[in-house]
This record gives sequence, structure tokens and C-alpha cells, in this order.
Amino acid sequence: MTVTAVRSKVILTPQLEVCGGRQLSGELTVSGAKNSALVLMAACLLSRDTIRLRNVPPLTDITAMGEMLSSLGARVVRLGDVLELTGDRINSSAAPYELVNSLRASFFCIGPLLARMGMARVPLPGGCQIGTRPVVEHVKGLKAMGARVTIEHGVVNAVVPGRSHRLKGGRIHLDCPSVGATETLMMAAVLADGETVIDNAAQEPEVVDLAGLLIAMGARVRGAGTPTITVVGVERLHGADYAVIPDRIEAGTFLLAAAITRSALRITPVIPEHLGAVITKLEEAGCRIEHDGIGVTIEAKQIDAVDLRTQPFPGFPTDLQAPFMSLLATARGTSVITENIFENRLQHVAELQRMGAAIRMQGNTAFVEGVARLSGAPVQGTDLRASAAMVLAGLAADGITTVRGLEYLDRGYAFLEDKLNAVGAQISRINAA
Ligand code: UD1
Repeated sequence: MTVTAVRSKVILTPQLEVCGGRQLSGELTVSGAKNSALVLMAACLLSRDTIRLRNVPPLTDITAMGEMLSSLGARVVRLGDVLELTGDRINSSAAPYELVNSLRASFFCIGPLLARMGMARVPLPGGCQIGTRPVVEHVKGLKAMGARVTIEHGVVNAVVPGRSHRLKGGRIHLDCPSVGATETLMMAAVLADGETVIDNAAQEPEVVDLAGLLIAMGARVRGAGTPTITVVGVERLHGADYAVIPDRIEAGTFLLAAAITRSALRITPVIPEHLGAVITKLEEAGCRIEHDGIGVTIEAKQIDAVDLRTQPFPGFPTDLQAPFMSLLATARGTSVITENIFENRLQHVAELQRMGAAIRMQGNTAFVEGVARLSGAPVQGTDLRASAAMVLAGLAADGITTVRGLEYLDRGYAFLEDKLNAVGAQISRINAA
């Protein structure tokens, strides 16, 4: 008789084990803003000179964007939180599919490539876990600046006709204030011939940060942070040394870590105006928050239910909807949360329910009835911010919460468990089946 031994292959996945119920205290440091750094990196394609970015967070998305820029011929040197990007040898206007597919933000390259080279071939980024994420507004704006744009076989082909290969200034009205479209069109307009006006532009702080870098490079940009941005094209842009703003979403996540554990924390650096809607909601829920010029101090005892609706800036940010829901799952009373930006951004509800949260859904609205205690459970982070929401819920839950989906978490939070452990949390990264 033959005995066949069957060996089963066990695949280990990185997970966070969060031991809940611990109070936090001390000070947390916020890294540079991921969403700013990504677009600022793309802007380096606009100049032959070196752009030196400071306060760049150590994230997998930043590495992926660096790879994208290198594939186009840019030289990328990283020294701690400083990134030096030099675009003197840009030799390709075609972004590789694998890189755009792994990082949506690499679609940003289309604006600067078109402005600098007069042509760009960039695969459509496609949708993701939270929604379909079209690029219709980006394409509409580029056409208004004179580009010929076709979409074939999943690739956006854009060419500036004529001998000069230079885009022309135009008037663009965005149907929705898309952050990505506003940033793409600003980068396309800075080297265009004449004036471009973008109406119904996104007002997010990352748009203002991009304008800050472009101005430091010699661009003429007015109105960033308002609904109308005006760009007057210049012949060339030069190098610059520029610091990325602090990450308002990471700062918001830390504020929520204090609130959900009913603790007191100081969080620096924070630009309070970037978190206006979030701070207002936390105060409405019963937290005491003070600004001291560099950071904020938060003290949380009892949390009451509050209603929130996600909106473009300065409204409540969609990126903090899931983390805030974790908090409200532990509040006194029933909160109503409406997601207005993305069509599929409530997948964390099912995971919070696994931890004992009492949440009822109706379309894009969640009715969250606070419970006295969440209970630790194995949960899956379904996207970047949902993963952070699971970690927060774990901090407040009884027992151990195991969070999977770290491939998302690591895209947007630098050393999250180390930072939280330094203020009293108990989180370990393990590899488990
Ligand atoms: C950026 C942020 C993301 C944040 C989002 C909203 C980066 C790298 N990412 O994403 O973290 O959650 O802003 O604050 O900065 N839309 C259209 N047509 C378009 C473009 C967008 O209908 O052509 C819609 C989208 O489907 C979505 C809404 O506009 O419903 C907002 O999207 P947008 O502002 O473009 O988000 P991103 O720039 O992709």
C-alpha cells in the first residue's frame, strides 16, 4: 500500500493584534501628508531642475510613486524624510500599466507629462474598493486646454497638436470639485500658453499645498483654496525646496484614538483649519480640544452621538468617515452618518458589527446606536481608512482584535502601531494564517 503524504501550504498574512481597553496618554507626532506628497512628487516632472521635498512620509504609496517617476526617467533619491526628484532626463511619456494599477495617484502624471512633453499615454486607473472613481473631469479639462484625448484599450492617449506642443489656457468648469482633476489641471496649466481658469475647483488643503510648490517653482497660480483657481502659464519652471503639510487625516485618526479610549493626548504638528469640521464634530460629541499654535490637545470623557455627512472640504472629510464611525459605535445615543462622496464606502459597517456595534444601513446612510462596549474579534480592513477604523475600534474593545488588510493600512499610515504603542496602546504585528 502506498501512503501519499499531502503537505498543505499555509499562507501567512501580516496582521495587527490590538489588545483593547488601555488608556492612552502623551504626545503623538503626525507625518507629512500622503495625498500632498504624491501630487507634489508628480509635479517634479514639470521641471528639469531638482525639486527637494521635505517631510515626506515613509509609506508604500510614496515608494510606488517613486517607481512610477523613475520609469519615466526621473531621478529619485530618498534621504530619510527628504526626497530629491530631478526631471532632466525624462525620456518617456508612457506610464506603465502595472504601476498605475497599483497606485491610482500615478494617474497624476498625465497633467505634467502633457505640459512638459506635449504627449502622455496613461492607463485608466480604474475603480477601487470605495467606488468607480472616474477621470471624466480630468479629461474634459485637458481637452479644454487644447489636448486631443482618446481612450482606447484602457489607455488614455493625450497629445497637444501643433508644432509648439504647448497646451493653451482655457476656462474649465468642473461638474464636481474633484481633488484629482483640480490638481491634474493645475499642473497642466502652469506651462500652458495663456491663462487658465478652473471653476468649481476643489478647496482641499492638498490643492493649496500643490499651489505652494508650483509657486515656489516659478508658476503663477492664484486662488488655490477657493472655488476659482487662475493659472497664468510660464515658459519654464525651476527647482525648489518645499516642506509637505502635516497629514490631516493621520492627525484626525489620532484625535479619534484619544476619543475612543476616553483619553487625553497632544498631537503635533496640526494645522487646526485643516481639521475644522472634524474638531467641531468631536467638540459636539463632548471632547475638549485646545490649539496651542503647533498642535492640539484633546481630552475625552463621555462621548455623545452626533450626526455627520461627508462633503468636499471644508466639509467633513470622507477619509475620516470610517474612523469616526468606530468612535460613534461607542457613543451615548444614536448617530446618523451619511457618505456623500463615494458610492461604496460603508463596507466597514459589517466588520464593526462583528465587534458588536449596533449599526443599521439604509442606502448611503448608517444609523449607529452606541453600545457600552465593543468586543474584540478578527476583522478585515476593507480599504485604507477602514483598516484604521478597525484599529481604533480594537483600542476600545474588550479583549483582542485581529486586523487584516495591512496592505491598505501601510499605504497611508507610517508606523501606526509604533506611534500608538508609544502613548500606551498594546498593538503587535504578527504573521498568522
Ligand atoms: C482624493 C484623495 C482621497 C479622498 C478624495 C476625496 C488623493 C490621492 N486622494 O481622491 O483620499 O478620499 O480625494 O476627498 O488625493 N468624480 C467624478 N468625476 C471625475 C472625478 C471625480 O464624478 O471625473 C467624483 C468621484 O467619483 C467621487 C468624487 O468626485 O465621488 C470625489 O473624487 P475626487 O475628489 O476626484 O477624489 P480623488 O482625487 O480620486
